Amino acid sequence: MPVLPEEVVAALAGELPDEHDGWFVDGTCGAGGHTRSLLEAAPGVRVLALDQDPDALDLARTNLAVFGDRVRLRRARLSQLARTIRKERIGRPLGVLFDLGVCSLHLDRPERGFSFLADGPLDMRMDPDRPRTAADIVNTWDESDLADLFYFEGGESGARRIARAIVEARRRTPFQRTGGLAEIVSRATGRAGGRTHPATRTFQALRRAVNEEGDELLGGLAAADHWLADGGRLAVISFHSGEDRAVKHFLQRGGREERWDILTRKPLTASRTEVRGNRRARSALLRAAERLRGRPHQSKGGGES
Ligand SMILES: C[S@@+](CC[C@H](N)C(=O)[O-])C[C@H]1O[C@@H](n2cnc3c(N)ncnc32)[C@H](O)[C@@H]1O
Repeated sequence: MPVLPEEVVAALAGELPDEHDGWFVDGTCGAGGHTRSLLEAAPGVRVLALDQDPDALDLARTNLAVFGDRVRLRRARLSQLARTIRKERIGRPLGVLFDLGVCSLHLDRPERGFSFLADGPLDMRMDPDRPRTAADIVNTWDESDLADLFYFEGGESGARRIARAIVEARRRTPFQRTGGLAEIVSRATGRAGGRTHPATRTFQALRRAVNEEGDELLGGLAAADHWLADGGRLAVISFHSGEDRAVKHFLQRGGREERWDILTRKPLTASRTEVRGNRRARSALLRAAERLRGRPHQSKGGGES
């Protein structure tokens, strides 16, 4: 279920005349929920829908089949967005959307290794071709690097204790499963029984490192800055304060340079009604901006133009 669907459509397509043609880019199409909303709201447009996860693309292909050639699905990472837009020859898109992070496809399938609730291999790769898994990180990184990761990427206040417990445990047996890691982390924090599972932050930090989510986002933002049409819109949904801060700073800098008109001074959040029907929406933060007309486009499109 897409989060903030009406807000995303309003931000990207709200001011387009009904039959306006052109392309949107959904950089993180997942099951295709937002792509569907955009195709329904703007009957003249087409969507280039990308995801790094082949399972997500399979699902989107089924879910969006009814739209025929109005949707083009391609496997790509955000850091490859500039190259993909160029290769697909869609010209300058009218709108670009990133709905960051994982989807239920990842969390609900223990074999993908994202879940601390259901045991699975300690993997966490959204793109299965990435060389490094979560097990590689927990079994090989220094204690201090692990502690920094949990603290800075997960906001985990018990980061040092958790890192120490991991390093001690892996001397006996290297970690292979999410269940084993969740247990050691829970014991190290001594926080069992709260509303949030004690391994939530540690798992989030590991997932961000495995998928290089910070760098991926910056690559995607640079590509949007380079490629969006004059007057085109960017919408980004984040679920992590560091991620939201990166988007805010990127837009503020572009605002000062008069390349972006920021449409959301504060991030938009989901209504109580939406959160009741979709728990994932509770931490969603949406920022949107418009590419100003006639301003030079940033020269680099995602570091690999
Ligand atoms: C939250 S889901 C998107 C849900 C989608 N908006 C919908 O309505 O169904 C995020 C998706 O983005 C993909 N993703 C995350 N980071 C990515 C990246 N750097 N490059 C490409 N895809 C990415 C994930 O594989 C996942 O399928």
